[in-house]
Amino acid sequence: MRMVDLIELKKNKQVLTKEQIHFIIEGYCNQRIPDYQMSALLMSICFNGLTKQETAFLTDEMLHSGDIIDLSAIEGIKVDKHSTGGVGDKTSLVLGPMIAACGVKVAKMSGRGLGHTGGTLDKLESIPGLNINVNREDFIKQVNEIGIAIIGQSTNLVPADQKMYALRDVTATVDCIPLIASSIMSKKLASGSDTILLDVKYGKGAFMKTKEEARKLAYTMIEIGQHLGKDTRAVISNMNQPLGNAIGNSLEVIEAINILKGEGPKDLLNLCLEAGSHMLVQAKRCQNEAEALQLLKQVIVDGSALNKLKEMVYYQHGNIDVIDNPNLFKQAKIILPVKAKKEGFVKELEAKTLGIISMKLGGGRLTKDDTIDHSAGIILNKKIGDYCNSEDILAYFYTDKEIDQELIDEFYSAYQIVDFFVEKPTLIDEILV
Ligand code: URA
Repeated sequence: MRMVDLIELKKNKQVLTKEQIHFIIEGYCNQRIPDYQMSALLMSICFNGLTKQETAFLTDEMLHSGDIIDLSAIEGIKVDKHSTGGVGDKTSLVLGPMIAACGVKVAKMSGRGLGHTGGTLDKLESIPGLNINVNREDFIKQVNEIGIAIIGQSTNLVPADQKMYALRDVTATVDCIPLIASSIMSKKLASGSDTILLDVKYGKGAFMKTKEEARKLAYTMIEIGQHLGKDTRAVISNMNQPLGNAIGNSLEVIEAINILKGEGPKDLLNLCLEAGSHMLVQAKRCQNEAEALQLLKQVIVDGSALNKLKEMVYYQHGNIDVIDNPNLFKQAKIILPVKAKKEGFVKELEAKTLGIISMKLGGGRLTKDDTIDHSAGIILNKKIGDYCNSEDILAYFYTDKEIDQELIDEFYSAYQIVDFFVEKPTLIDEILV
């Protein structure tokens, strides 16, 4: 078999066999297939797609390229969730403790942020002292004892995806449904949990630009999960504007803490309640979503979800005092209010641009080796559908860097303010089960 012939096949819209896909993934992981040939194949896949069967074979090959985590030493059903990525998305930090407080095990491996989207690990590391490098034995012990751990991915978890994703990132081959589906699902399946709840986002701040594309991606992933015997469901949610009001690592952790205290933005809370209610049904903790919803609200009201977060932070050597006293997080040297230039309703609030601005303020990485400033980011004061008078504060920038006018102009370009009424957008479109 020769890689060049397989590229030719895909270029001509032919279907690849299991053996051919094995040859490609195994050869690429073992350095027999160079990046340039893999790039050509990935680009052909972007143009000509993969069948359901090819996507399933690809996922399976990627899944078996490295470690498959065995969580059987953890009692009970283990649930997992995954968001396809967005700006201001701190749902894992809220949902994890809520679910664990309801008595369901959360053994989660998360990733870092790159470009305009954030990563759960970076957010967690804004808590002074918190350790995300937990070995497998301690990870299992922690989940058995307190019901939750969120740690960094094992370095050998789906190495095929680590290599392919880095290549896709620089060859404009990320936004392709079968490639995203196999990338996400191979990692979720390798992480060993029993159920998977996917939060598939669409809009200006997401990989999928339309609701239809998001549904297609969700169904592709659900089919892969079900095929391998995992209860897989998906929430389809809007990412035209950031989720919640905070963008940036410690700012997002503080917002997540506020939600667990019964405060904080309603859009984030509703997404967590909706997604969480399905996770509790998937875990067979509740008979139906209505019962699950009551339980989730109860663990916020009685403080047990917040306590669960404290337990997790304590176990992972973080300073739990920050949870009651956010001033103990590293503080940004500059907090700059940015004011509206005209009055009216906010019509557009481009998530991606805001994510990029947060990154430039120091809150994200341009390349994977950049260091980040955990205190940097943006707090939004006005979102789509809000009315603002001229001179009202639209947002606050948090940074240690000097802020130039160009960045402020970029920020204004993300906000569209109009003189007619604008309805607040719906966040959750549907749940696919
Ligand atoms: N997230 C992933 O893990 N993989 C993709 O391909 C896209 C988003």
